[in-house]
Amino acid sequence: MFRLSCKLLSKVATSDGHGENSPYFDGWKAYESDPYHPINNPEGVIQMGLAENQLCFDVIQNWLMNNPKASICTPEGVDAFKEIAIFQDYHGLSEFREAVAKFMAKVRGNNVKFDPDRIVMSGGATGAHEMIAFCLADPGDAFLVPTPYYPAFDRDLKWRTGVQIIPVVCKSSNNFKVTREAIEGAYKGAEEANIRVQGLLITNPSNPLGTTLDRETLKSLVRFVNEKNIHLVCDEIYAATVFMSEPNYVSVAEIIEEEDIECNPDLIHIVYSLSKDMGFPGFRVGIVYSYNDRVMNCARKMSSFGLVSSQTQHMIASMLSDEEFVDKFITESKTRLAVRQQYFSMGLYDQVGIRCLKSNAGLFVWMDLRKLLKEQTFEDEMALWKVIIDEVRLNVSPGSSFHCSEPGWFRVCFANMDDKAMELALTRIRNFVLKNKDIALSLKKQCWHSSNLRLNLSSRNLSSRRMEEIMLVGMMSPHSPLPQSPLLQART
Ligand SMILES: Cc1ncc(COP(=O)(O)O)c(C=O)c1O
Repeated sequence: MFRLSCKLLSKVATSDGHGENSPYFDGWKAYESDPYHPINNPEGVIQMGLAENQLCFDVIQNWLMNNPKASICTPEGVDAFKEIAIFQDYHGLSEFREAVAKFMAKVRGNNVKFDPDRIVMSGGATGAHEMIAFCLADPGDAFLVPTPYYPAFDRDLKWRTGVQIIPVVCKSSNNFKVTREAIEGAYKGAEEANIRVQGLLITNPSNPLGTTLDRETLKSLVRFVNEKNIHLVCDEIYAATVFMSEPNYVSVAEIIEEEDIECNPDLIHIVYSLSKDMGFPGFRVGIVYSYNDRVMNCARKMSSFGLVSSQTQHMIASMLSDEEFVDKFITESKTRLAVRQQYFSMGLYDQVGIRCLKSNAGLFVWMDLRKLLKEQTFEDEMALWKVIIDEVRLNVSPGSSFHCSEPGWFRVCFANMDDKAMELALTRIRNFVLKNKDIALSLKKQCWHSSNLRLNLSSRNLSSRRMEEIMLVGMMSPHSPLPQSPLLQART
């Protein structure tokens, strides 16, 4: 058979820059070849490698039922069909930008305002990251990125732009804090290697840690980029998933307005999306919000390559301008995430002694299985990961795929399934540990010197009275009060 020679293709087409071969994607393949289904395949692999927020679809569906005009494909909304179907302006619908700007402010506690004229659309945060990389860096230039970081940054920032990522190594000894020292070290290393650093990319709240950056750390990062005259890109796509009121969530948008900070706003850029906060990754609503006019103008022109469809803009504009709904949704979503996270991490600890990094946000926990490695190596981490997939029948993501510098950590997603699937996942873990005496022994031996790895159920951390009530019900009863996710049921 005739095969096209690789020489006839571009470097992009023949390179491995997409990262499809990483363990992160391998886990998805393992799940796809044998997916769990409660009736058709009860022994199948449970997908815990997907950071999806499916806990509030009943709330969304309810709104859709009550607002048929929001869709141009209903008898109530069809009058707007023509006008919306022919819209293709890359500035986006003004009502969409206004609604998104308001939503961004709301999920940041209305402590800051966002200018709708600075909202630039992209195909999800994925498109937003590439767009920002194109605007800020040339091939060969680099971004510093603290570890562990979202695996697909390697694809989004590097693959088509030719930009590099220089990891900033963060350690478990201080709960993976992003220190000035670690950033300086990475910057210096780049200088020595003659690599031009164009920016620092942070994710706040963090994927995979589920933690938020505190005000002082953020300030020190803003000071750092100003001293070095490089850019700061803040991925804040998990902003509304912060489910504890303490520590407070602080956006970089707040920091740059503080009086004791001297900041050149031209260096600051926010990446946002509705994929996590609203649970709409399929709508591909991504946002670049830059305080730099030139970046904003260039990004807007580039957005032609990844516009959000006008149909989606229209619907999102209606939904997000309904302030009563948005308030209710945000509160409900945080409450359900808190219940789920606490229930799952308590289950891991109470039933089998597995601990997770203390977190206050996100759709996942960062599980510590270092005690189960025979040797503290990434080979052993991969071997354990294989056991988790093949024997425990769970797809979780190994820390190495997040460029974690220490083996033995795993990210486990908890918001993409219904209660029964989560309960089954806990049962499988428990049965596996009970069956393997040496594993049970290692977990038992764990000593609890780090208070940050303890679970904190103190009610002062919860954001509302209602949450406390729900938490109590959720913790005491084996049946969490969460509704079943219709989407997951339909899919699995
Ligand atoms: C930190 C982070 N940034 C960006 C993305 C990509 O998001 P989107 O679906 O909006 O492209 C993800 C998705 O998991 C993520 O975790």
